[in-house]
Amino acid sequence: MYLYYASHRMNALSRYLARVNWPWRLPSGFAKPLPTQVLKCDPTSISFDADDQPQIKSQETLEALRTASRHLVEAFQPVVFPTETVYGLGALALNATASAQIFSTKGRPPDNPLIVHVSSVKMLLSLLPPDYTLPDSYRVLIQHFWPGPLTLLFPRDPIKIPDIITAKQPTVAIRIPSHPVARALIAISNSPLAAPSANSSGKPSPTRVEHVLHDLDGKVGLILDGGPCDVGLESTVVDGLHEDGNIRVLRPGGVTVEEIEQVLLQNFRQGSPPKVLVHRRDFVDEGIEQVPTTPGMKYRHYSPSVPLKLLRTISKPPQGVIADTPSSLLHSLKNSLGSSAPLRIGLLTLSDSSIISDLVSDTEIQWRQYSLGSFAEPAVIAHRLFDGLLTLEKEGVDVILIEEVSEDREGLAVMNRVKKAADEERWITTSMEAQCKYCPRTSCHSLLMNQTET
Ligand code: TXA
Ligand code: MG
Repeated sequence: MYLYYASHRMNALSRYLARVNWPWRLPSGFAKPLPTQVLKCDPTSISFDADDQPQIKSQETLEALRTASRHLVEAFQPVVFPTETVYGLGALALNATASAQIFSTKGRPPDNPLIVHVSSVKMLLSLLPPDYTLPDSYRVLIQHFWPGPLTLLFPRDPIKIPDIITAKQPTVAIRIPSHPVARALIAISNSPLAAPSANSSGKPSPTRVEHVLHDLDGKVGLILDGGPCDVGLESTVVDGLHEDGNIRVLRPGGVTVEEIEQVLLQNFRQGSPPKVLVHRRDFVDEGIEQVPTTPGMKYRHYSPSVPLKLLRTISKPPQGVIADTPSSLLHSLKNSLGSSAPLRIGLLTLSDSSIISDLVSDTEIQWRQYSLGSFAEPAVIAHRLFDGLLTLEKEGVDVILIEEVSEDREGLAVMNRVKKAADEERWITTSMEAQCKYCPRTSCHSLLMNQTET
């Protein structure tokens, strides 16, 4: 009884310190951890009027959103909510103490800045420096892709945006999410929300409530359950603030580079449209490499708790690297991971995979397969990637093998995540290669495509 009373008083003291924007947190042992509550929301019951205000038909959803808003605004506690990309761990962006809890909950390094989520362009403008004018490229991108999985960098107004949000960068990353639950929560709270993906730092991003619970149960007080996320991987992060006016893609994501190029080409009115440059493909920036302003530059990202091997079946091996056959790959995995029990291997492969039949012919191994969908549908692959990694991890495999996909459309974002998540890349020759008369690649998807077309 005494302990309950003491922790209640400490929680009240924490809330008071947050309200006055006290810069330090009480040691975590002082505040009593709350049990994690999951509240269902029906996204289809939410619509938005011309003033960007949510109209909510379901009473259960309205109550859940009000409860979440009280957590955020009155108790200064973080809340997990669904977005169209991945689940986010949100807190009041303009309150440093509330946002600090995001970092402690995730174990996130303090030099990795957060994305601020707003519910309307009006809310966006309220955060920007008063003398700032949106560039024409941003007007076009906002008109076509917001609400949606596109994050834009803006100059930071240090009077409004706390240091902790931007890791003291001169820019702040902002987006309007299109998920009705996310947007309604921000509108009802009438506050921008800082929200990284709702996973422990370094882990794959959660796309379902089960993933969040597996990782953060007991570490967060409240989760809003809005069902599985549509896109399945994070927003595209874009910097259009350079003097040359070009659009620099710092992190490929839910909006593809091809879509950005096309929209700018068709709608840009001020002379020739800006170029769209992808980091590490079209430009390298020493500054970006030094600080973790682009996800995954400095820290390991998206990695499951078991080893992940990227099987290069499309690109040619670098000079001096000899490609494995499926059997030599499995032989070396058995040696390196060896135990007396049969090896359990998780396979994240395409439904029209060029290697799957060669691999699973080894019956000494216990195989667990998760299909990423067809090579021809990169949006489906993006949607399934994190779910596949987290599902196989939960099934208790010893290692996961993931098949390379082509780096176009959503495939660019998929390979961006996979390259950062994998602890090793192996180049594989398949029996398919010998049959292919169309191209000299290690494995040939044009052969597969031609087969399915006929
Ligand atoms: O789809 C998404 O973007 C999800 C959902 C929840 O909205 N959020 C998300 O947040 O992926 P997070 O923190 O996991 O990844 C955001 C990345 C950070 O790793 C950070 O490096 C980058 O965006 N970022 C944030 N502010 C930045 C800035 N000012 N300059 C450059 N990069 C920035
Ligand atoms: Mg993340």
